[in-house]
Amino acid sequence: MEPVLEVKNLTKNFGGLCAVSNVSMEIMPGELIGLIGPNGAGKTTLFNLLTGVYEPSEGLIEMNVDGSKKQIGGLKPYKITDYGVARTFQNIRLFKSMTVLENVQVAMHRNIRYGTMTALLRLPKYYSEERWVREKAEEYLKEVGLYGKRNELATNLPYGEQRRLEIARALAIQPKILYLDEPAAGMNPQETADLTNLIHKIREKYNLTVILIEHDMSLVMNICERIYVLDYGKMIANGTPDEIKNNEFVIKAYLGEEI
Ligand SMILES: Nc1ncnc2c1ncn2[C@@H]1O[C@H](COP(=O)(O)OP(=O)(O)OP(=O)(O)O)[C@@H](O)[C@H]1O
Ligand SMILES: [Mg+2]
Repeated sequence: MEPVLEVKNLTKNFGGLCAVSNVSMEIMPGELIGLIGPNGAGKTTLFNLLTGVYEPSEGLIEMNVDGSKKQIGGLKPYKITDYGVARTFQNIRLFKSMTVLENVQVAMHRNIRYGTMTALLRLPKYYSEERWVREKAEEYLKEVGLYGKRNELATNLPYGEQRRLEIARALAIQPKILYLDEPAAGMNPQETADLTNLIHKIREKYNLTVILIEHDMSLVMNICERIYVLDYGKMIANGTPDEIKNNEFVIKAYLGEEI
């Protein structure tokens, strides 16, 4: 089997600061990967490189797209989305004045096929596509347990539910790779346990490769098959949860923090 993602010697400099330094990774299809590291280690910056928010200073990001290898480093975010990449954000980014359902529908409109004239003239195709969008969006909301709240404003949802809505919106892109930036942040233990189940479920159902950044070590150690560890922009370790727990470089990086 070919890797779905290969990162080769990736570097991102901000002026004199090297936020991501010579990072390499190899991810196989369907893996559930953790990305951990102390605050400021470069985790979100790495996601921003992988999703096209930033251009790499150096290095390659290769993605397997329909059997052929594409270099996606430096492409525009919408292009990377088209290749099947979706994400959620550390600082939740929802359309706050839209309903829960609308937030998912908006993400789906890039997948539909009618032209502007069809939409303007409200031709039958427009209505059937609209119905399809609505039904799919409702399916994703059921998946994350928010169907009952579909008509509420996104901004009125509690924090944990906003995070799950972001996941529904990411699923609507029909991704192959899903990046989750601190999905459990702000969640209580019950919500975190539910989130763990949700991540397992959607990975199976939609054949996803999932890479998640998380500070909640019990979640990471529970759920991830393999973990990468960043420290000051450098990838200092990569292994199974047990290997990572016992890795001396990791313990040193987290000195004073419980893992
Ligand atoms: N756009 C930017 N311009 C300048 N410096 C940046 C920029 N984005 C990130 N940085 C810096 O790069 C470093 C890595 O930041 P990043 O947000 O990637 O860390 P992180 O591992 O996600 O941390 P946290 O766990 O706190 O979210 C930090 O020193 C940060 O201040
Ligand atoms: Mg971050």
